[in-house]
Amino acid sequence: MNLLVVGGGGREHAIIKKLKENPTVETIYALPGNGGIAQDAVCVPEIGAKDIEKIVDFAKSHAIGFAVVAPDDPLALGCVDRLHDAGIPCFGPGARAARIEASKVFAKNLMKQYGIPTARYEVFDDPARALAYLRETASFPIVIKADGLALGKGVLIPQNLSEAEAAVKSIMEDKAFGDSGNEIVIEEFLTGPEVSVLAFTDGKAIAPMVSSMDHKRAGDGDTGLNTGGMGTIAPNPCYTPEIAAECMERIFLPTLAAMRAEGFPFKGCLYFGLMITSEGPKVIEYNCRFGDPETQVVLPLLKTDLLTVMRAVENETLGDLAVEWRGGFAACVILASGGYPGGYEKGKAIVIPEDLPENVTVYHAGDKLENGKLVTSGGRVLGVTAAGETLQAALDSAYASAERIRFDGKYLRHDIGQRALRALEG
Ligand code: AMP
Ligand code: GLY
Repeated sequence: MNLLVVGGGGREHAIIKKLKENPTVETIYALPGNGGIAQDAVCVPEIGAKDIEKIVDFAKSHAIGFAVVAPDDPLALGCVDRLHDAGIPCFGPGARAARIEASKVFAKNLMKQYGIPTARYEVFDDPARALAYLRETASFPIVIKADGLALGKGVLIPQNLSEAEAAVKSIMEDKAFGDSGNEIVIEEFLTGPEVSVLAFTDGKAIAPMVSSMDHKRAGDGDTGLNTGGMGTIAPNPCYTPEIAAECMERIFLPTLAAMRAEGFPFKGCLYFGLMITSEGPKVIEYNCRFGDPETQVVLPLLKTDLLTVMRAVENETLGDLAVEWRGGFAACVILASGGYPGGYEKGKAIVIPEDLPENVTVYHAGDKLENGKLVTSGGRVLGVTAAGETLQAALDSAYASAERIRFDGKYLRHDIGQRALRALEG
């Protein structure tokens, strides 16, 4: 069978490597893919992840038996609906279900209506009313979120009134995130460890994956700007079996039921961004897709064949399948271009030793082939994942290989997994 994967980052590389383990898979096409993904799939750099018409035409003309739409933008634009219209089975939510990520106002109202625990909030479409609310009632820090998709940058946490006023102005008046800022959510600041839980769901059954922990800030010790994610570990030691059971009962199943009741069941990978507060787990955000770089530590621990799971989601038979996981840990260290998430240089030659250990996988996120050689082309360039019996072993192995990979300006955090190690020590 030929497969098509929409997207071109480290997450898509991890999905493709896993799909390749299925012996019935012939060719995998990646639209657009990237330089490193080209080692595992046929990349089509001319077709971007948002070129919905071209994606559908490509799928029709290349005998695609199954498609996976990985990034948020094409999901929100209805790529899965269009592929289904063309008769192509695929993995991912349709546009209406993707609103659970694409509109924070929709997600917050859904949680309020169905009693799913989340931070208290107010919605504003008028900057003057938002400013009046902040002046009268707010305590700080407070959280201000643009309604729509904003490349993971649409969340601001002002520490005082003047920062909050500047945030409202930047999102609603200067349109820092374009139309995504037409409405904003102002919500209560929660504290506690964060856990990412990705889950396969066919709208009725749910199979949560192993939990993970992202490291969103650019600098060691969680300092500096927010990024797409500088490293991950799995499983997350803060996610105990008791908390997992509570999340299933109070968050996961009610979310699926809410989406069904609204008339658009969620099918695909639903990502729960959770905070374990003193009042129990609460939803910080939903994503309608696999996380990046969470996928790079979660999928390596999946024992069951990924294509089988994805087809069960599409066929709504997930409840009949036992999705199994390996023991042990995985750690992923992101190698970024110096300057990311601000400006950075591109086109730096990448040298990856050929004798990296067997437990290490390099996922390519931001590179391309230039005259047959790999060069950097994005902020997050590579994700170096290692599996290990213990978290310490996985981290040691990931860092040892990360140090051996070279490109000019290579930047990495040196403390991925440290908080998780402390949590394990109790
Ligand atoms: P997001 O871009 O939606 O993933 O949010 C970025 C980060 O902002 C989250 O990972 C949290 O660390 C933080 N955040 C979002 N909402 C809240 C909240 N209500 N309280 C505290 N931190 C938050
Ligand atoms: N790593 C966070 C996300 O994928 O949104």
